[in-house]
Amino acid sequence: MQTVTLVPTKPIAGQKPGTSGLRKKTKVFSEPGFLENFTQATFNAIGDLNGKTLVLGGDGRFFNDTAAQTIIRMAAANGLSRMVVGQNALLSTPAASNLIRNLKADGGIILSASHNPGGPDEDFGMKYNVANGGPAPEAVTERIYAQTQIIETYRTMDTPDIDLSGIGDFEVGDMAVSVVDPIAEYLALMRTLFDFDAIRTMLSDGFSLCFDAMHAVTGPYAKAILVDELGAPAHSVRNAIPLPDFGGGHPDPNPVWAKELMNLMSGASAPDFGAASDGDGDRNMILGRGIYVTPSDSLAVLAANAHLAPGYAGGLAGVARSMPTSRAVDAVAANLGIEAYETPTGWKFFGNLLDAGKATLCGEESAGTGSDHVREKDGVWAVLLWLNILAVRKLSVADILRDHWRQFGRHYYSRHDYEGVDTDRANAMITALRDRLPALAGQAAAGMVVSVADDFCYTDPIDGSVSNNQGVRILFANGSRVVFRLSGTGTVGATLRVYLEHFEPDPENHDQDPQSALAPIIAAADELAGIAEYTGRSAPDVRT
Ligand code: G1P
Ligand code: ZN
Repeated sequence: MQTVTLVPTKPIAGQKPGTSGLRKKTKVFSEPGFLENFTQATFNAIGDLNGKTLVLGGDGRFFNDTAAQTIIRMAAANGLSRMVVGQNALLSTPAASNLIRNLKADGGIILSASHNPGGPDEDFGMKYNVANGGPAPEAVTERIYAQTQIIETYRTMDTPDIDLSGIGDFEVGDMAVSVVDPIAEYLALMRTLFDFDAIRTMLSDGFSLCFDAMHAVTGPYAKAILVDELGAPAHSVRNAIPLPDFGGGHPDPNPVWAKELMNLMSGASAPDFGAASDGDGDRNMILGRGIYVTPSDSLAVLAANAHLAPGYAGGLAGVARSMPTSRAVDAVAANLGIEAYETPTGWKFFGNLLDAGKATLCGEESAGTGSDHVREKDGVWAVLLWLNILAVRKLSVADILRDHWRQFGRHYYSRHDYEGVDTDRANAMITALRDRLPALAGQAAAGMVVSVADDFCYTDPIDGSVSNNQGVRILFANGSRVVFRLSGTGTVGATLRVYLEHFEPDPENHDQDPQSALAPIIAAADELAGIAEYTGRSAPDVRT
């Protein structure tokens, strides 16, 4: 048996895991002792590892493989009984969630900074998921953080790297390591949820699609499912090989970063359906020929049509959306007579609702959609549900969307991001808004009148936990809304997010450009919050 080494280490400032684990520059994460320190803190927070099973995998970004080997050695040195690792240390976030659930594992470690760029000069990240397959709740992340502040040693052992390139079983110290196919169990789950025959028939009848994996983790999943299983031509999946630097791009499926796909979908040779996913495979973007489906609209359309897929044929128990997500799905829920829950930003807030069977579908405006099939958002799942719906309804994406707006009205929506803003200025702006909340009601700005203004506070209906200060929301008398909050996932300065929404019931007005339809709210938002004044910017960096 190999000897365990206790390596002295010291608390490292700033290791505070946020909504999606800890994200840092790769240079920071790979400093001697940093990854080790955070890993040990995580193990300490879990407690006795003897008898436990953990899942491990990542999105393939730079440092993924080295980090996996380090974590495997440390897990063995900490007395873990079994580690189940994705081949080549790859696992999409939803596939990891599924594996944790299927294996009844005690949790899992996912190596990813999601949609942030990767590479030696870009970002790396690590998050811990718990036994239900979902992100660690705040109590657990706080425990991890507390450990990073008092840690004195980390445990490791001097064992050679194990071969992660094939499937197989190994031993590291006394720990059993199984290297597994990262796709097989995920594919098996998708087969139970969707009518693959219907999708196959649609594709063989000439329906064309393009899935852009953005050189990130979903490439192998999309190839296995869309091409090998469902029969789409091989060229339907592009940028399919995961690269350590994602080919130099931002693996973020939105109109800005997935420009190539946007161009294709608006061009003369656009396929019927386009989609993209992010670094770790939990986000999605949906496009039709010449049309972009906002994530908020996508959630609403999926909720209204989910019963057409076998996995949801019995209907939905309820739906949930993050507070800044548009209220389009609320209209569907009202029509279906089911509950629509409004939660703070971050997938972890859906976990309790899903576990309790109160919500079946959930989603966020930031391109995350998912269901109770796992405890993470799931990009490939969203694509398959859309394809299932298209195969049954036999309408184009654009027609499905227009039809939806006709029935429920259109919620024009956009998010404006101001990135790398001076942290003090950004905080000052939010604080000033908070201080003025009671005074805002009744105030007019840019021709609009504020009806209610508050700072979103959420009480979890299952465990009663309270989350304060989740975003300033301002409702206008005409039903429009603006929400202000600061990002919790950025790595440089502060990112101010401004979420804009305008409801338009009249189908005659459903063909406007979103930025024009939202112009009055954009002006009112700036006037009320003083965005230009505080940020020193005259326009947002990114509009999605
Ligand atoms: C962002 C998104 C949020 C998502 C999170 C993790 O967080 O806005 O919806 O859950 O990434 O993917 P933010 O940077 O806004 O805190
Ligand atoms: Zn992600």
